[in-house]
Amino acid sequence: MAKKSLVDFIKMKKDGEQVTWVTAYDFPMASFVEQAGMDMILVGDSLGMIVLGYKGTNPVTMEDCISHCQAVRRGAPHTWIVGDMPFMSYQISDADAVANAGRFIKEADVDCIKLEGGVRIASRIRAITDAGILVIGHIGLTPQSSGQLGGFKAQGRDVVNARALIKDALAVQEAGAYALLVEAVPPEVTGFIAKKLAIPVYSIGAGPADGQLLICGDMLGLFQAFTPKFVKKYANVAEIETNAFKEYVKDVKSGLFPTDEHVYHILEPEEEFQKMFAEFK
Ligand code: KIV
Repeated sequence: MAKKSLVDFIKMKKDGEQVTWVTAYDFPMASFVEQAGMDMILVGDSLGMIVLGYKGTNPVTMEDCISHCQAVRRGAPHTWIVGDMPFMSYQISDADAVANAGRFIKEADVDCIKLEGGVRIASRIRAITDAGILVIGHIGLTPQSSGQLGGFKAQGRDVVNARALIKDALAVQEAGAYALLVEAVPPEVTGFIAKKLAIPVYSIGAGPADGQLLICGDMLGLFQAFTPKFVKKYANVAEIETNAFKEYVKDVKSGLFPTDEHVYHILEPEEEFQKMFAEFK
């Protein structure tokens, strides 16, 4: 399958064709996602929780993100990849934001970057797009500022908050982002934003829009700390892996593994080996 381009994503919005994407953080996962025919991959800073075992995303560094994006690119050479800018890689200044966005493109060969926020980071989006880098905005539940939001809580559920979200969405588009991701927002609000904006609007836990994103650790049942309400689980990989490891432990302890089919056989008569062993007695 040919790798999609910006032109394809704009056409898909116009034609009403849904875009599918999931997160991936490593080579094998990325290659499975590509084989499944997914349109895009997000190398999210959620890797902090799903892969690195942090309580949240904020400890994740630029180095973590670049290294995981590189692995994902190796696993999915024909898929549109979104690099996620980690906490403090764009909050300080426009210049910092451009320099760090540039690292994703130069060092990890991603197709675009994503950052969190609306009105308050519009100048960052403008600066990055002016440098020729494609940007996806991210509004609603923005994990990097979840402390200010009172935790991992749905957003835009009252009129005041929904109005602010719509202003954020417009600011992201106005600043030059080519797409917007809306997280954990009621479908009424997301639907309004998706219709109002000319750019593609994607949803994670925000109802129907121009496409859907899920975190691989959630949809595959890999991440066990909690599962957000909006997740549909397509597998229970944690159970499959744990059972496989348990069975291996049982087999080794009881002598059922390894058997003859799992060993390399000698290439000369055994007596020759016995003679050689005797030299060491
Ligand atoms: O890091 C991530 O996976 C994300 C999603 C929560 C949208 O930003």
